[in-house]
Amino acid sequence: MMSVKLATAMNTTAGCTISTALIEAAKRLHSTGDAPHLEAQILLSHAMSKPRAWLLAHGRETLDADCAKHFDHLLEERLCGLPIAYLIGSREFWSRNFHVAPAVLIPRPETEHLIEAALEIFGDDGAHRIADLGTGSGIIAITLGLERPCSHILATDISADALAIAQGNAQRLGASNVEFRHTDWLSGFGNESFDLIISNPPYIAEDDRHLHEGDVRFEPRHALVAEENGLCALRTIIMQARQHLRVGGWLMLEHGYDQAAAITNLLREYGYCAIESRADFAGHMRLTMGRQDS
Ligand SMILES: C[S@@+](CC[C@H](N)C(=O)[O-])C[C@H]1O[C@@H](n2cnc3c(N)ncnc32)[C@H](O)[C@@H]1O
Repeated sequence: MMSVKLATAMNTTAGCTISTALIEAAKRLHSTGDAPHLEAQILLSHAMSKPRAWLLAHGRETLDADCAKHFDHLLEERLCGLPIAYLIGSREFWSRNFHVAPAVLIPRPETEHLIEAALEIFGDDGAHRIADLGTGSGIIAITLGLERPCSHILATDISADALAIAQGNAQRLGASNVEFRHTDWLSGFGNESFDLIISNPPYIAEDDRHLHEGDVRFEPRHALVAEENGLCALRTIIMQARQHLRVGGWLMLEHGYDQAAAITNLLREYGYCAIESRADFAGHMRLTMGRQDS
């Protein structure tokens, strides 16, 4: 068996036991984040197509050459900063696994607050019409479609590549009540109207320093950045949604931690009622909604 020292020096896990490979990988992954042991397990679990628990129970087994090669490659990519979600091709959202690739934003846990708020509005499973604008991997549209099977969900995006990924996710997860459309926000919607228009649009300012840190560096810029200090897409949606909400219908938006006041003002300016912001787990106001009363 290859010694730990030699494996480290050569940056290869070939010939190592599973537990040695995990320990050495975690040491190397220290620079990429605060969970190097977990990251090592996730990557090895992906390379071996085995659950993480299986790795822990089989720590004394030796990695076969193909798995070691695959794991070493994933480690190198991760050390270059590539997001774990893109490396393994999936991310969990609302307890379901969604396929993700560099054409789509990586789902964030904060976005689950949008789902909570939307499900609260539709307490029952009536036949509601919902539009999810800028669907990306489809997490919002598909989750609402599966949780409210009598509703019809229209999922849109300006990116054809994102729509292809979202459609694949809908098919895999069995969300047959979600329809997909390639469009620029609500343009070309004619006289269609909805009970809920929901969106997590791009809202980061072009000069935000966070764009140069962590996973965000690898995500599509058009999914993240908006002009007007991050408010351009939000303003367009607020303005256009007025023509496409039924009386009593809701517009629900995710936004940046410091944008709630600006979004509240915009919703007021465009005549929405019952405006309310909600906080994420960190206590930041991250979603704001308004109702169309006339
Ligand atoms: C922040 S991402 C959200 C993705 C997904 N809804 C989520 O929550 O993970 C914003 C999405 O808006 C899409 N987008 C950007 N500009 C758009 C436009 N003008 N019209 C429609 N979609 C747009 C991007 O392609 C991207 O998928």
